[in-house]
Amino acid sequence: MMKRTLAIIKPDGVSRRLIGSVINRLEGEGIRIAAMKMIWMTKEQAKGFYKVHEGKPFYESVTDFMSSGPCVVMVLEGEDVIARYRRLMGATNPHEAEEGTIRKEFATDVEKNVVHGSDSEETARFEISYFFSELEITGQ
Ligand code: CDP
Ligand code: MG
Repeated sequence: MMKRTLAIIKPDGVSRRLIGSVINRLEGEGIRIAAMKMIWMTKEQAKGFYKVHEGKPFYESVTDFMSSGPCVVMVLEGEDVIARYRRLMGATNPHEAEEGTIRKEFATDVEKNVVHGSDSEETARFEISYFFSELEITGQ
């Protein structure tokens, strides 16, 4: 079982001062932060990150959004953390997200939905290595 995933507090979450609230939720679930930094992606970096969505109708807009301001990127660790963190985030569209999820509580919009989380072991590996070298990830 892969025990690491990539989480992002997106530019809307940072500008709305939700960094602490999101981190509280993760730590409250027993998830450990193994690496963390603030970055501001260029449009090209955002396009590379969301390459799986190239050609979809929301690709241009979401990559504009992701490069519109700083993000907090984190490597999360814990048992079954990919699925657990996805459940904690809630559905992509906050209007469809379950009560108690981060997106239900904080997000306003299908695009500006506060958080990102990897959706599989393969994407977690790609996404973690997109932002972090192994040396930047703390073990325990
Ligand atoms: O983030 P998640 O894995 O839940 O959703 P996704 O389908 O992988 O889409 C990536 C991101 O693109 C979403 O989190 C939204 O910010 C954005 N998106 C959008 O703007 N409109 C959609 N219909 C679907 C996704
Ligand atoms: Mg996704």
